Amino acid sequence: MTQTMTQQPPQAGESLINRNIITPEGAYAVSPEKIPTVSAEEYGQRRQRLLDQLPDKSIAILPGAEIRYRNNDADYAFRQNSDFYYLTGFAEEGAWLVLTPGHKEGDCHLFSLPKDRAQEIWTGFRIGQDAAKTDYGMDTAYTLDQLDSKLPELLDGAQQLFFPMQGDDALSRRINGWCQQVRQKARMGAIAPEQQHNLLPLIHEMRLIKSEAELDVMRAAAEISAAAHSKAMQVCQPGMMEYQLEAEYLYHFMRAGSRAPAYNTIVGGGANACILHYVQNDQPLNEGDLVLVDAGCELQHYAADITRTFPVSGKFSAEQKALYQVVLEAQYAAIDQVQVGLDCHAPHRAALNVLCQGLLDLGLLTGTLDEVIESESYRRFYMHGTSHWLGIDVHDAGRYKIEGQSRPLQAGMVLTVEPGLYVAPDDDSVEERWRGIGIRIEDNVVVTENGPEIMTSGVPKNIAEIEALMAGQGVALPA
Ligand code: GLY
Ligand code: MN
Ligand code: MN
Repeated sequence: MTQTMTQQPPQAGESLINRNIITPEGAYAVSPEKIPTVSAEEYGQRRQRLLDQLPDKSIAILPGAEIRYRNNDADYAFRQNSDFYYLTGFAEEGAWLVLTPGHKEGDCHLFSLPKDRAQEIWTGFRIGQDAAKTDYGMDTAYTLDQLDSKLPELLDGAQQLFFPMQGDDALSRRINGWCQQVRQKARMGAIAPEQQHNLLPLIHEMRLIKSEAELDVMRAAAEISAAAHSKAMQVCQPGMMEYQLEAEYLYHFMRAGSRAPAYNTIVGGGANACILHYVQNDQPLNEGDLVLVDAGCELQHYAADITRTFPVSGKFSAEQKALYQVVLEAQYAAIDQVQVGLDCHAPHRAALNVLCQGLLDLGLLTGTLDEVIESESYRRFYMHGTSHWLGIDVHDAGRYKIEGQSRPLQAGMVLTVEPGLYVAPDDDSVEERWRGIGIRIEDNVVVTENGPEIMTSGVPKNIAEIEALMAGQGVALPA
């Protein structure tokens, strides 16, 4: 196995406490009053940047998310649409944003639920139209029941119409209905848009480059999630159920100010780690197995996305160590490629080289490195990509290729680096001792002019540090 990086055991005097991974009192890495936010001014600047890209005589229409029904009288927790939130910071259900560059009534219009004392007693505070203007920077604010009368007015005279084109037929029908109302007034001089465009690519390219305020929120989400991983490592024991370990994460996320995980938490003990989207989390964690946990919190609508793989009983076996070290070295090599100007698939290529060489060295694959990569024989053990964009969505917006070419990395992009190796429990092409081992190591990395900034470094990932943390050395258990 190639040893491009050696693991660094914790140095004397450099305990995890001193490095602020865990505070001595078991306090939380980010306390609620310190959670960063994005200012109303910044939301306004984002809308202005979008308006600047829209042609004269155009209109953009963007609906927010609706409450989703779960079962009788019970709804899913409301989560605002990511694009809508990015442009407004307005986290109330059922709202619509309309942008009309240069319109006599203003550029930014919000339609939202009316203030209604009786309704608010049942379902909670509503922001209302006055605050939409004063606190959210809208030029005009209307109630939702004004949508059908006001939209034909705002559409009149616009030549180009932008809205999210993502196969939502109901949305297209509703917007086309408003356009049709304008056309019916053509003899009175009304003009309906003749060209329709997808609004989303414009917003998604903006979302790809994070501002300092966004990075601060993401750093906080990363710090909380890393602390949760550190704490879960300390309480993990054989005999626990996977969902009990999951509960540790959810508890720490919420204690630190997050209201929900950014995606369904994966806690896969033993061979369950080889099921990439395993979320049943209902099996016992067994002595001698590894457990793979992919868990990140959502904070102020921004995601963290961390995976750690650690031994249930605190000590890696020889085979687990060998495969783990390959994945760790692949991850280091990939993170090294997170550099301004390199293409966004460079981390994947670097990870692949190290993973494949490691599999060859350990005898899980045969042939030369070139043959293994060319034939993709590695795909039996590594079948996913190494990175995705991260932001308001865990798999965040923004293209990976432009005109068929992998796009260059730019400062302010945030991506995950998450190589793994998964040996299926029934893979009889390898010695039995390797079977059922699944490993992934995932960190969140900002592209900066000074190289990669790892936002999730608050949780250990090298073997000696994980074993030391799990043995209770140098760390206080949470209160
Ligand atoms: N947690 C989803 C992913 O790692 O892509
Ligand atoms: Mn993940
Ligand atoms: Mn990920």
